[in-house]
Amino acid sequence: MSQNIFDNETFFNEYRKLREGKSYNDLLEQPAMQALLPGLTGKRVLDIGCGFGHNCLDFINRGASRVMGIDLSQKMLSAAQKEASHPGITYRRMDMAGLSQLVSEGERFDLIYSSLAFHYAEDFPRLMAGCFSLLHPGGVLLWSQEHPIVTATLDCAGHFNQDEQGNPCSYTFSDYAKSGRRVGTWFVEGVVNYHRPMGEILTTLAHAGFVLTDAVEPTPSPQAIKQRPDLAKEFIKPAFLIIRAKKPENPLSGTEKGK
Ligand SMILES: C[S@@+](CC[C@H](N)C(=O)[O-])C[C@H]1O[C@@H](n2cnc3c(N)ncnc32)[C@H](O)[C@@H]1O
Repeated sequence: MSQNIFDNETFFNEYRKLREGKSYNDLLEQPAMQALLPGLTGKRVLDIGCGFGHNCLDFINRGASRVMGIDLSQKMLSAAQKEASHPGITYRRMDMAGLSQLVSEGERFDLIYSSLAFHYAEDFPRLMAGCFSLLHPGGVLLWSQEHPIVTATLDCAGHFNQDEQGNPCSYTFSDYAKSGRRVGTWFVEGVVNYHRPMGEILTTLAHAGFVLTDAVEPTPSPQAIKQRPDLAKEFIKPAFLIIRAKKPENPLSGTEKGK
């Protein structure tokens, strides 16, 4: 069963505070994600792990006709309903492990978007298959996740090293090729996520039938570094991986997919 850490009171309050400041999301991840968005006029969008719903509202403002935001956390969804509601948006409590429910209900989308939630998915082939089934031919899948260098180390003890002046100069990590569950501390102990090496991520995407269009490891702009000088260490080790892929107009059958 998927862990629902965002409904932990302490975790939720700390995460909320983090997002209120000028976060890595605002300065690094979101600009790169927005640059990869397709035109949304009249389109139907699914946001997986929609959190506070800010992106769902942005999709409506960009002309989307209908947006569905799904999330496992009741606290996140309650905030979304308060802060980012719109008649064109439906919020629904759902585990991303259960996308087949939406498939069987006949839901289909032009864009499936997910910001920083896919590293919580245990069964990645199942997630990719669900996304593929839910997209119209020609539809786009766009997601960001923690970079595999960040998720790699088994005891979650990957860290920056400092030079004699105290500036970050390198990054230590290990266990990169050991795919699987990681348990670490982020605000609270026992936070579970799943590490997958880059090759596994891209191969699973291809085997589901998708065609990769972009793989981005975002770096900060000079303006972003002015606002948060610590972002300069992104040039040593990226925090995020962003993938954009397309469902072909004429998808291959199961046996023809790159297997
Ligand atoms: C880091 S937050 C990002 C929230 C939002 N996408 C954003 O960028 O502001 C990750 C979100 O994924 C949700 N999440 C984690 N595991 C999930 C799962 N198995 N199914 C659905 N949502 C999940 C969490 O509850 C949380 O809202």
